[in-house]
Amino acid sequence: MSSVRKITEDLYWVGANDNRTHLFENIHPIPRGVSYNAYLLMDKKTVLFDTVDWSVGRELIKNIKEVLGGKELDYLVINHMEPDHAASMEEVLIRYPKCKVISTEKSFMFMHQFGFDVEGRKVEVKEGDTMNFGKHTVTFVAAPMVHWPEAMVTFDTTDGVLFSADAFGSFGSLDGKLFNDEFNFDRDWIDDARRYFTNIVGKYGPFVQYLLKKASSVPIKMFAPLHGPVWRTDLGYYLDKHDKWSRYEPEEKGVLIVYASMYGNTEAAAYTLATELAKKGITNTKVYDVSKTHVSYLVAEAFKYSHIVLASVTYNLEIYPVMYDFLHHLKSLNFQKRTFGLLENGTWAIKSGTLMKDYIEENLKECLVLGEQVSINSAERDANVPEFTALADALVDSLNK
Ligand code: FEO
Repeated sequence: MSSVRKITEDLYWVGANDNRTHLFENIHPIPRGVSYNAYLLMDKKTVLFDTVDWSVGRELIKNIKEVLGGKELDYLVINHMEPDHAASMEEVLIRYPKCKVISTEKSFMFMHQFGFDVEGRKVEVKEGDTMNFGKHTVTFVAAPMVHWPEAMVTFDTTDGVLFSADAFGSFGSLDGKLFNDEFNFDRDWIDDARRYFTNIVGKYGPFVQYLLKKASSVPIKMFAPLHGPVWRTDLGYYLDKHDKWSRYEPEEKGVLIVYASMYGNTEAAAYTLATELAKKGITNTKVYDVSKTHVSYLVAEAFKYSHIVLASVTYNLEIYPVMYDFLHHLKSLNFQKRTFGLLENGTWAIKSGTLMKDYIEENLKECLVLGEQVSINSAERDANVPEFTALADALVDSLNK
């Protein structure tokens, strides 16, 4: 018995699921776990595409052994050298001493840096190179910065399978299912897929666009990513999501409200604004407490919605540190093309609105900060009503454009 899944006549999923790791890259929470996908092609030559994280290496070895059924492993293709995919490669090489490693020059350099011994076993490939394994011919395509500089993807021209490395991946373990059509992806997976893409690859939108352009010129029938489901139907749905995310275009017209509140007054003001919006017919809204929500979720929601309201208390004459951290993440991920509304609060100094406006205008490309702003002195009061109305009206106007 094993967790192997057959994908095509000759191709098998031999990866592993990980529900024990709490933080992906030791940063991002993965309450639904994650899968590390590896694929084994049983052609005249046998070819393993990538490995798995060291923590689940035993699963990989067991799965490979079962599918090989006593045959030798001839090649290991490393599309992406990051240890969540390559850490088990030495174990594979020890067990299959005739196996050669196919990868890029930079990838071999990284293997050397990590201390992986591949001497005498390297087959270096570059953009456009092809190899034939019997029935199957593959083309290697450079995919720099999706998500590390050494990355490549491999296209099996025989079956139309794209081994897409980190592209088209997702957080979430696979529960024994594998294909996108075995899940209700749009209901159960898209939020984690967005969170995976935006936090892991979000910074490199132009590189993803470059890869999407290359991908559009070949007849892809299947995406076989390194995390999450294998896509064999409705590829256009997932391509469209990636196109939007990598162009920093919102998926939906709606308002994300993120508040930073120390004693509940900024929180109350955030809900007052959300209520005003609902009264005006804007119900595609989400309200989050920046202090209670891991920033990876906020980043993903920011990529989803067209409009963002930041409501922050002033803290030591600065932006509340956790709100600042959220803004810093957006900057680091090259986030752009949104309309912002601001709500500030302070007791002995009200500074956060001006500071957030300056931060956005200085650091986030093609972002507009609405002139209408709510400014609260400790707690909202009747005198603030016109400001709430003006900001809500400005958001409605902007959403309706
Ligand atoms: Fe899943 Fe960039 O590694």
